[in-house]
Amino acid sequence: MSTYQTVLLDIKDTAAYVTFNRPEKRNCMSPTLHAEMCKVLDEIAAARCKVIVITGAGDAFCAGMDLEQCFLEPFDKPELMAQINHDAFGWFTRLKNNSAVTIGKVNGWCFGGGMALAGILDIVIAAEESTWGLSEINFGIFPGGGTTWAYANNIPSRKKALYYALTGETFTGKQALEMGYATNAVPLVGLDAEADRVVKMLSRLGRVVLGKTKEVYEKVKGMDFEAAIDYEMAKMWELSRETNDDWVRTALVSFKKREFKPGLQSYELTKDV
Ligand code: COA
Repeated sequence: MSTYQTVLLDIKDTAAYVTFNRPEKRNCMSPTLHAEMCKVLDEIAAARCKVIVITGAGDAFCAGMDLEQCFLEPFDKPELMAQINHDAFGWFTRLKNNSAVTIGKVNGWCFGGGMALAGILDIVIAAEESTWGLSEINFGIFPGGGTTWAYANNIPSRKKALYYALTGETFTGKQALEMGYATNAVPLVGLDAEADRVVKMLSRLGRVVLGKTKEVYEKVKGMDFEAAIDYEMAKMWELSRETNDDWVRTALVSFKKREFKPGLQSYELTKDV
């Protein structure tokens, strides 16, 4: 367990557990938290984690940016403001592009920048009772710093997306699931168990194939079909080389021996690939 002022980091095997630890401030993101998250991501990269789980201490996931420390206090100090933004958008971007699978455990309040965070993660498991909102309109701005990108890319219905941004009305984790912002929603009491189940599933799989699955998905979305085929096949051979052809030499050989059914389970990793 690493000790930071605002974040707890626990690395167990190949999974990193990050907990925003400002419960008295509903885990809103201060300049210190942004700076510390840059270091946390360095630690996670050095440990070659396959999975990163992010949650909040107490009854909040994340109440967005710290409105006082990130906006009000540095407002007339442009250099300080630039440093805060550099750290904040730096770790957000690194997290979004991370080769590890990122999972959010939305345990409670999730507002503004907290919704940006949930929006850039790969998997979000929400407590049905959690409260979400694009509250920016309530203090006179629109969702910025990637938050508009996040809600626009996670709420497919234009009518619903704009409704929540324009009114600031809150919605529940259950509704987040219905809209597609959350991958799954369970009662708060079952949140840890559901996240553990998903982490266990992912931990059995190879690091390289998990990372490339994400990368290929993101890149192919913007391509036409023929370009996608070319890119996917090129990446397939890249994966093959980086894993010493494990998919053929271990997985398919194991299938030939009828040791597993790929439709129902994964092959047994024999090396760290
Ligand atoms: N920035 C700065 N401080 C924040 C904060 C934020 N985003 N969110 C919460 N806090 C602080 C509160 O000001 C309060 O500080 P205090 O103890 O010094 O008075 C403390 O955290 C606890 O918040 P409180 O409002 O008393 O808790 P609550 O459980 O009644 O309500 C919220 C929780 C999240 C509904 C409420 O704190 C809130 O509206 N926060 C702002 C959310 C927001 O608009 N975020 C978008 C930012 S981009």
